[in-house]
Amino acid sequence: MSDVLVLYATVEGQSRKIAEHVCDHAVRQCRMARVANITNLPDDLDPAAYDALILVAPVHMGRHHQSAVHFIRDNAALLQKHPAALVSVSLHAVGLEPGDADEAREYVDQLAGETGWIPEAVHYAAGALKYAKYDFFKRWMMRRIASEKGLSGEPGDGDEIEFTDWRALDDFVDDFLHRHAPVGA
Ligand SMILES: Cc1cc2nc3c(=O)[nH]c(=O)nc-3n(C[C@H](O)[C@H](O)[C@H](O)COP(=O)(O)O)c2cc1C
Repeated sequence: MSDVLVLYATVEGQSRKIAEHVCDHAVRQCRMARVANITNLPDDLDPAAYDALILVAPVHMGRHHQSAVHFIRDNAALLQKHPAALVSVSLHAVGLEPGDADEAREYVDQLAGETGWIPEAVHYAAGALKYAKYDFFKRWMMRRIASEKGLSGEPGDGDEIEFTDWRALDDFVDDFLHRHAPVGA
């Protein structure tokens, strides 16, 4: 059976939710899958022992999460030769404005420049606004950015608006795992 390791970093929890979704999706398709937080990796975890790795990392203030950057830099050689994909989580990935997709790609180019890892497969996942988890300043800043970019949710969404396209994420994971961790292998 093919083994899949999903590693994530997160600040407000959306990347964890995405990583857990990816792991559950892989398990539903009869793969062995494990999910772990990059910030606090168990000692017994050996990424090289897995058939495929999927890293999920959010963008905050123009950069991917520090723990993800450190992990990738430390493991760039492994990631480059091993089947490994990146799920980059950001609000630019929502793609409402011209230039948003380019900006989302630039975050990944910057990550590649910083770490030396050029991922063979990248999915740009739209993140979430989680106002209840922000302090006063962040809430003010994110409400302003959201209003400028026209990012609003359905009435009743309240303090949390999720933009993640789960179907697009599943399609990406299916394609990547089909190539590198086929069911029944
Ligand atoms: C303080 C802050 C800064 C952010 N900066 C960016 C940014 O520079 N570019 C972007 O596209 N999204 C940005 N976002 C949106 C996050 O990528 C999005 O909320 C994501 O879902 C966060 O993932 P997490 O919940 O796993 O931390 C920012 C969000 C916050 C709260």
